[in-house]
This record gives sequence, structure tokens and C-alpha cells, in this order.
Amino acid sequence: MINSTNSVTQLRATQLLLLIITIFISSCTEANDTQELLKGFKARPDPSTTSFQSLLRDPTGNLSFGFLRTNRTRLSLAVLHLPSSETLWLADPTRFLHWSHKTELTFTNGSLVISNPGSRVFWSSSNSVAGDRVVLLNSSSLQIQDNLKSVVWQSFDFPGNTLVEGQNFTDAMTLISSNGKYFMRLGSDFMGLYAGFKRGYEQIYWKHRAMQAKAEIVQGKGPIYARVNPDGYLGMYQTGTEPPVDVQPFSTFQKQVNGLIRVVLEPDGNLRGYFWDGSTWVSNYQAISETCELPSPCGSYGLCKSGSGCSCIDNRTEYISGGECLPTESGSGDFCGDAVANNGFWVLRRKGVELPYNELMRYETTSSLEECEGICEKNCSCWGAVYNNASRFCYTVDYPIQTLLSVGDETKVGYFKVRKSAHKGRVGVVFRALIGVFFGAVLVFVGFIGFVVYKAWERRRGVKRFLHDDETGGVSPGPYKDLGSASFRALEMCNR
Ligand SMILES: *[C@@H]1O[C@H](CO)[C@@H](O)[C@H](O)[C@H]1NC(C)=O
Ligand SMILES: *[C@@H]1O[C@H](CO)[C@@H](O)[C@H](O)[C@H]1NC(C)=O
Ligand SMILES: *[C@@H]1O[C@H](CO)[C@@H](O)[C@H](O)[C@H]1NC(C)=O
Ligand SMILES: *[C@@H]1O[C@H](CO)[C@@H](O)[C@H](O)[C@H]1NC(C)=O
Ligand SMILES: *[C@@H]1O[C@H](CO)[C@@H](O)[C@H](O)[C@H]1NC(C)=O
Ligand SMILES: *[C@@H]1O[C@H](CO)[C@@H](O)[C@H](O)[C@H]1NC(C)=O
Ligand SMILES: *[C@@H]1O[C@H](CO)[C@@H](O)[C@H](O)[C@H]1NC(C)=O
Ligand SMILES: *[C@@H]1O[C@H](CO)[C@@H](O)[C@H](O)[C@H]1NC(C)=O
Ligand SMILES: *[C@@H]1O[C@H](CO)[C@@H](O)[C@H](O)[C@H]1NC(C)=O
Repeated sequence: MINSTNSVTQLRATQLLLLIITIFISSCTEANDTQELLKGFKARPDPSTTSFQSLLRDPTGNLSFGFLRTNRTRLSLAVLHLPSSETLWLADPTRFLHWSHKTELTFTNGSLVISNPGSRVFWSSSNSVAGDRVVLLNSSSLQIQDNLKSVVWQSFDFPGNTLVEGQNFTDAMTLISSNGKYFMRLGSDFMGLYAGFKRGYEQIYWKHRAMQAKAEIVQGKGPIYARVNPDGYLGMYQTGTEPPVDVQPFSTFQKQVNGLIRVVLEPDGNLRGYFWDGSTWVSNYQAISETCELPSPCGSYGLCKSGSGCSCIDNRTEYISGGECLPTESGSGDFCGDAVANNGFWVLRRKGVELPYNELMRYETTSSLEECEGICEKNCSCWGAVYNNASRFCYTVDYPIQTLLSVGDETKVGYFKVRKSAHKGRVGVVFRALIGVFFGAVLVFVGFIGFVVYKAWERRRGVKRFLHDDETGGVSPGPYKDLGSASFRALEMCNR
């Protein structure tokens, strides 16, 4: 009786909770009707917001600018595509604030400012130029306009990891992946993707030179810029010239798509394009199509084989998805300096390996493998070298070792330094785990002995009768059996 009443109450409570959550979510994702913010505007993050607090919407109602809450406590200013909750822009993509009702966003002096009143300014759109209103365009650009409606500031000039249709990407801008590891920049006649595997050092891993089929790059005519064209391509242009100097077509090239197109520098280092088909984002472009050619698909000291996935350079280590074969340990990023020199390194060699983007890597020509290894061994900023016995090219790696390509050609030999402290750290972890297991086992054993002794003592005191009552009465052993857990079975065995 009591049980059934309980479950009905529980059901009602669950339904109520679901209803509350539904209301909560729908109120969270509902676009705010406000279409412009005027001077004097002030807003604070609402403590009850779970995901997004809309402050301003675009004319279609599909896009919104507001406070984005991530990982429960992080606050960012963001432009969101509401139907998919996809973030198109972040005010300060590498920093997050704490979600606090003390934080305030203001538009009082003609620029957007987010601050803790009375203390410090976290971010501001700009303090040199002043506008009169803030609007969000249907292209997703957040603009500050003056009273003549000319643009004094726009979010399009400060991209994060995303470029959308119509947005100009110039040589002064950098696209940065959400994990802060990868960058996209423009050179004088190319578009490049770079990896920041070591502080203060960037390795280019993808380079696309302008084809210059429809127009040529003219010296002195200004830098090139890139733009996602509504016709379905990523174009490169030179300021002032109309036809693109380069076209990277999407799979939707010259097909009419109505939805928004965005190009994102992803956390895996790939540059991918998507269009919104009304219900999902459909991928229509990727700069790197072969997984093994990504900058680090199998993590540090990983080995990628086309068609068969990841393993480790060190064949004694098993590859665990999402993990690292050997930790690189962040730190000074090389083997120079005293602290690291004390620990030193050990050497890992592997035949049949190649650098994934060696056409973009530095190399020297050496007469032997030994000479190649020697160059790296002596240089404290070198992490490894790959020697090609056929071409005699010696490629040196100046950043912590990432994923290498596994190739059939055994004459391509890799030499890799591994931090000694890192290796010891791993042994330490295993050792500590073993110690933990040992003490755990001792504890369980002592507990078991204690239990047996206690039972024997109980029987001797004639409490056995009560135990019998328990077994036949209110609490049946059924549920225990249903649970089927080892500990409950152990308990039953003990009772017999
Ligand atoms: C939209 O946001 C503004 C500023 O925070 C607020 O004053 C207004 O009440 C909101 N409107 C709706 C419909 O939520
Ligand atoms: C959102 O965008 C789609 C096109 O992608 C459009 O059909 C729809 O009308 C838009 N929603 C609103 C509320 O305007
Ligand atoms: C979320 O927060 C937890 C704890 O603060 C942290 O361990 C985790 O890495 C965070 N997740 C992301 C995606 O930042
Ligand atoms: C706006 O300008 C006034 C006067 O220059 C200054 O006192 C005030 O702190 C400014 N407010 C913000 C939010 O920057
Ligand atoms: C966006 O707005 C412009 C005018 O400002 C209009 O020409 C265009 O069709 C709109 N695009 C969408 C997708 O609504
Ligand atoms: C992009 O650049 C072109 C050519 O300079 C310019 O006409 C256009 O207005 C720019 N678009 C934006 C959104 O700034
Ligand atoms: C691991 O590599 C070493 C050296 O390259 C080789 O001698 C050994 O046979 C390999 N072990 C396995 C299990 O493949
Ligand atoms: C060590 O390597 C770095 C980067 O590859 C290079 O700039 C430097 O000249 C090398 N030092 C010596 C002594 O060869
Ligand atoms: C490297 O090349 C040399 C000369 O071409 C050859 O004698 C040697 O056997 C090769 N070494 C390997 C490991 O293939």
C-alpha cells in the first residue's frame, strides 16, 4: 500500500520536473524580441539561465546575441544560431568569465562593455569610436552603428573559429580553433593552417596557394582576403579586384542553397564548411580529407595508418582512443634549460614512419641516418628527426612529437626524444595504482574477517532467532537477487 502511494507520488514529481525543465528550456531558447539596443542599455546574467540568455535578435528571429553559459559556470558573449544552438561568434574566444549576477553588459558610451561595476573591464568592443545603437544582421554580424546607420564596429572584423557567408577574412585576422591549438592565416598568395604545439612556435600543416585562374595577384595592389561566397565556394580576392584569384569549391558549388553557410576551424585542425538545410548542418567542404593528414589525429607519439586507424610509435604501448601514447608534458616545450636537462630524455626509434605534412617541414640533406640523428640529438630545441634513406632528406621536428604516418617503406626511419620525467611519471601512476589496489584488498579482507567474527559472536548470544524473522518477514531476499550484484550475493552467502 505504502509502496504504491510512494510510486504515484514519484511519478507526479517526475512529470512536474519534466514540465519545469521543458518550460525552462523553451524559455531559454526563445529569441528575445528586441531588435536593437540603444544607448543606456544594461543587462546582467540571470542566475536561473541554464544555457543562453538572449538580449538581441536578428530580423529573421533565427539568430540571437546574448549571454552564453557553458560548462555550468562559464560566461561568454555570443551570437547563436538558435535552431541548432550553434555558436557563430564569441566576443573573446580564448577567455571565459564566471557566470555571475555582478557582471554587467552595458552600452552607455557608444561601445559594448562587459565588466564588474566598480572593478575591471573584461572586454569592450572598442573605446575609440562611439555608436548609437547595436543591431544583429541576418548574416550574423553584430554591428554598432551611428545615427546615420553607418557601421562603426562589427563582429565580422573579429572572427573566432567561424567565418560565415559574406564575411571578409583579411591578412590582419586569425581564425582560432575552440581549443586554441590551431590557427588560420593568410599569406601574400596563400591560405595556411598552423598548429601551436609549442609556446611561441607555429608549424604550418596545410597550405593552399591561390590558383590565379580568373585573376592574377598584382604586386602592390594590396593584400589578399578570403570570403565565403553564396555561390558555394571559399574565394580569395585581392582588394579592389572583383573576380576571385582563387576558388575552393564546396560540394554545393553553384547549387542554390537558401540556408546560412559557415566555415569552421575545428578542434581537430581541419577547416570544414557546413550549410543549414533547415533542420541540420550539412558538411559541404573540408580542407583535409584524409584523417591521417590532420595535424595530430592519434595524439602525441601516435601512429596513423590510412585505412586502419591509430596505434602508437612505441609498439610496447597500446593505443587508447582519446588518450596519449606517451605524454609530452607541457612545460618549457623543449630540452633546453636546467630543469629539464637534469631529467634528460630517452630515445624511441621506429622504421616505416613519415611526417604527415613533410612537404611543409624544414629539412637538411645528410649522408647518413646517424648524421641526421646527430643533428637532432645535439640541438636541445629538437624533439625528433625523420630520415628518408632514398632522398637523404633529414626532417627535424621542433615541437613535441605528434602523430606520424605509418608507411610501408622501411627505409624511412624516425628518431624521437621522450622526456624522462614523463616516463617516470607513468611508472609512478601504475605503482601508485598497485599500492592502492593492495591496500584496498587488505581492507576488504580485514572487513570480511571482522564480519565473520561478529556473526559468530551474534550466534553465540542467541540473536539467531531475529535473523530468521528477518529472512521470512518484510524484507524478502527477492530484490537482492534481482539486483544481482556481487556484494549482495556475497551477503546472502554469509547469512547461510
Ligand atoms: C529582451 O532583453 C531585454 C534586455 O535584457 C529585456 O529588457 C527584455 O525584457 C527582453 N525581452 C524579452 C521578451 O525577453
Ligand atoms: C529561419 O531561417 C529559415 C531559413 O533557413 C527560414 O525559412 C525561416 O523562416 C527563418 N525563421 C524565421 C523565424 O524567420
Ligand atoms: C568543465 O569544467 C570541469 C571542471 O571545472 C573541467 O574539468 C572540464 O575540463 C571543463 N570542460 C570544458 C569543456 O572546458
Ligand atoms: C562612460 O564615460 C564616462 C565619462 O567619460 C565614464 O565616467 C564612465 O565610466 C564610462 N562608462 C563606461 C561603462 O565605460
Ligand atoms: C538578409 O537581409 C538582406 C537585406 O538586409 C536581404 O537582402 C537578404 O535577403 C536577407 N537574407 C536572408 C537569408 O534573410
Ligand atoms: C568585404 O569586402 C568587400 C570588398 O572590399 C566590401 O565591398 C564589402 O562591403 C565587405 N563586406 C563586409 C561585410 O565588410
Ligand atoms: C617492436 O619494435 C622493435 C624495434 O623496432 C622490434 O624489435 C619488436 O619486434 C617490435 N615488437 C612487436 C611486438 O612488434
Ligand atoms: C636548433 O634547432 C633550431 C630549430 O630547428 C634552429 O633554429 C637552431 O639553429 C638549431 N641550433 C643549432 C645549434 O643547430
Ligand atoms: C640506404 O641507402 C644506402 C645507399 O643507397 C644503402 O646502402 C643502404 O642499405 C640503405 N639503408 C637502408 C636501411 O635501406
